[in-house]
Amino acid sequence: MGHRRRVRSAKSEVSLSKPDLVLSESLVPRLLAWFATSARDLPWRRTENPYGIWISEIMLQQTQVATVIPYWERWMRQLPTVADLAKAKIDTVLKLWEGLGYYRRARNLHQAASQILEQHGGQFPRDFAAILDLPGVGPYTAGAVASIAFNQAAPILDGNVMRVLSRIYAVAGDLTEKSNNALLWRLARQLVEQAQQTNQPVGQSCSALNQALMELGALVCTPSTPHCVDCPAQKLCRAHRDQKVDQFPQPKKRATSTARFFATLVLKKKGRWFLCQRPEDTVNGGFWEFPSLELENSVHAEQALVRWLGLENVQLERLGQIAHAITRYRIRQEVFLHEPGRTPPRLSTAGQWVTSRALQELPLTGSHRRIVTELLA
Ligand code: ADE
Repeated sequence: MGHRRRVRSAKSEVSLSKPDLVLSESLVPRLLAWFATSARDLPWRRTENPYGIWISEIMLQQTQVATVIPYWERWMRQLPTVADLAKAKIDTVLKLWEGLGYYRRARNLHQAASQILEQHGGQFPRDFAAILDLPGVGPYTAGAVASIAFNQAAPILDGNVMRVLSRIYAVAGDLTEKSNNALLWRLARQLVEQAQQTNQPVGQSCSALNQALMELGALVCTPSTPHCVDCPAQKLCRAHRDQKVDQFPQPKKRATSTARFFATLVLKKKGRWFLCQRPEDTVNGGFWEFPSLELENSVHAEQALVRWLGLENVQLERLGQIAHAITRYRIRQEVFLHEPGRTPPRLSTAGQWVTSRALQELPLTGSHRRIVTELLA
């Protein structure tokens, strides 16, 4: 058994590395030349500051470039150094993040800044293992920062790079599956290590190669209707050669999404608004929102709110509905308004009456900010 296993793994090494290496030898110079002339001018590409590059990579994890640009610029103005971030209040950090979603990223950045201050004297670490050790930093982000900020030959693999490599090398099947994923990481490593040998352009080839792979995925090798005529890898691309670009990457089985329903009440009294703060240990912990209740469905949403909040004999005004999606949940939120008269309600849920100014300034979760801008505006 042991012998058979050894033979099999040796064989897979040979069959993967030999032809792929030949293919990629001309690929790297083509990608570097293309990136030198075709890369977008993005603000974080104008800096060599590892802190700024790290912030950009975290923001870009789940968010489009166009959305990130103003957030990144504002962040860098307000918190220009690791020390500024470490010393900032979490509310300030969350406010700068408001609208980007996936707020764990902001909390991790804040914690990571303290770690950099304590363990590295405030200098962003160069060592790959130390970068990887920061909260919120996985192999992709560590590779991105190590290569872009320090020109190290660290591979990167994100959704864009996976798609690009799966087409050039015709990697079939589910790309997140273990052996495919390992193969893609190996290819990404080979490419960046080859880039390191080229020294072209001087001193920045690992940075440029990794960004070229991402950029190609973002601009040319797009998910649907890729622009193969503009692709520097066209002549080397196996999917293109076989006229199967549209078949890579092969779709993976989708997790089914779940519908959820929430009822929300906006309470307004003498120009103040009633807000509750989410417990720290929940999704979006620490954020503020209008009192909300999860229900089985929209039937009797109004009565459920009235009962839950301990309001008696009141009729709510229906403001409208917000639909949004988070991870695998499709969420529908029915929103009501109530402006109590002279006798303020004795609410059975904890919260605070805040001014309109505070409503603008406090960090609100995404759908509740939409309630303010879309339904109350
Ligand atoms: N996506 C992830 N990282 C990126 C970067 N540095 N530039 C553009 N898009 C990206």
